Amino acid sequence: MKTRGALLWEPGTRSGWSVEEIELDPPKEHEALIKLAASGVCHSDDHLDTGDIPLPWAPVLGGHEGAGVVEEIGPGVTAVKPGDHVVLSFLPSCGRCRMCVKGRSNMCELGAGVLAGVAPDGTHRVHAQGRGVGCMSYLGTFAPYVVAPLDAVIPIPEDMPLDKAALIGCGVPTGWGSAVYAAEIDLGDTVVVVGTGGVGMNAVQGARHKGARNVVAVDPAPFKREKAVEFGATHVAKDFEEAGQVVEGLTNGQGADRVIITAGVVTGDLMNPAQEMTRRGGTMVLTGAAPVLQRDVPFDLFTFAMSGKRLQGSLYGTTTSRTDVPLLADLYQRGELKLDELITRTYSLDDINQAFRDMHDGKNVRGVIIYD
Ligand SMILES: NC(=O)c1ccc[n+]([C@@H]2O[C@H](COP(=O)([O-])OP(=O)(O)OC[C@H]3O[C@@H](n4cnc5c(N)ncnc54)[C@H](O)[C@@H]3O)[C@@H](O)[C@H]2O)c1
Ligand SMILES: [Zn+2]
Ligand SMILES: [Zn+2]
Repeated sequence: MKTRGALLWEPGTRSGWSVEEIELDPPKEHEALIKLAASGVCHSDDHLDTGDIPLPWAPVLGGHEGAGVVEEIGPGVTAVKPGDHVVLSFLPSCGRCRMCVKGRSNMCELGAGVLAGVAPDGTHRVHAQGRGVGCMSYLGTFAPYVVAPLDAVIPIPEDMPLDKAALIGCGVPTGWGSAVYAAEIDLGDTVVVVGTGGVGMNAVQGARHKGARNVVAVDPAPFKREKAVEFGATHVAKDFEEAGQVVEGLTNGQGADRVIITAGVVTGDLMNPAQEMTRRGGTMVLTGAAPVLQRDVPFDLFTFAMSGKRLQGSLYGTTTSRTDVPLLADLYQRGELKLDELITRTYSLDDINQAFRDMHDGKNVRGVIIYD
């Protein structure tokens, strides 16, 4: 079928997204065609444009945070049927590889290939100007239709609003899980979240779910600090220096139990200030993406070892999407998880470059593209 999508022809050059005609193949075995209701605008797509995540191939159809309705299924598909409402997980999980079987589906072998530029079978589903197009996360939600591998298609109840559900494809579980699972927060902890955008705001919510006593939101953007309080932050700070003072006061100089780093671009110089804010035996969680080629991190290794701190990487918040996506939808429907408040502005696909500008200007917790 013919539709339109937002492409980068020269990733890494800050050229912005080109919205143009694309051709979508029908779903093959183990795939479904999804008609999207909405796509979140996550910072990870921007890394493709800036080159922080360099791609050795092009063009790329962006977008990896979507939800919609199954329109058509591939041959032999029984797991979903047309009309089913689904969230697309930005990391697929096959359910059969070693890490999937061990309950660590965010470490699925399939997930390791989401930036390979081809579908799991090595071919393209999307074509433009006569060329094969690679899709972000095997998806490409910057188009109203997506041919998705079933391993990324997760059914949700029909009464779950799809524009909110889209955010459960990436930002919500990534942030929430970084607090709830990766940080292993204990009741009464003091938790710092560094960078409260679309991901970090959900780490704030997650920290409150786990019973953190103090949640300190650190963000240079005043709007984000204001919103963080709405999401459960007990304190806010504009930078590490201010946060350090707040934490010192809250913990009698001991330091924060958990520090979760969800800044838009994680540079090496953020790591030691984060460590300095972490108490002896405390945990730092790194969720935000650093430029892929970055290697230099000034870090006080002596103190790190001798004070028994832990640095935990977090992909998809260490969530298990098959169970956590429906759980998060359910928490929303019970009024225990805020999703409406995450959506600051909505856009048409044609306004996608404006959505990224607004993200950079600190205007959105999440910008969301709405399809008809
Ligand atoms: N690990 C994963 O699985 C995963 C998944 C999704 C996104 N990400 C990454 O998480 C990061 C956040 O994504 P997002 O969509 O929330 O981005 P965003 O742009 O919505 O939010 C980033 C926030 O960080 C703030 N910030 C920037 N520099 C800061 C600093 N030095 N100190 C404190 N705050 C700072 C910004 O003001 C902004 O509010 C990105 O790097 C993204 O690629 C990782
Ligand atoms: Zn994302
Ligand atoms: Zn797997």
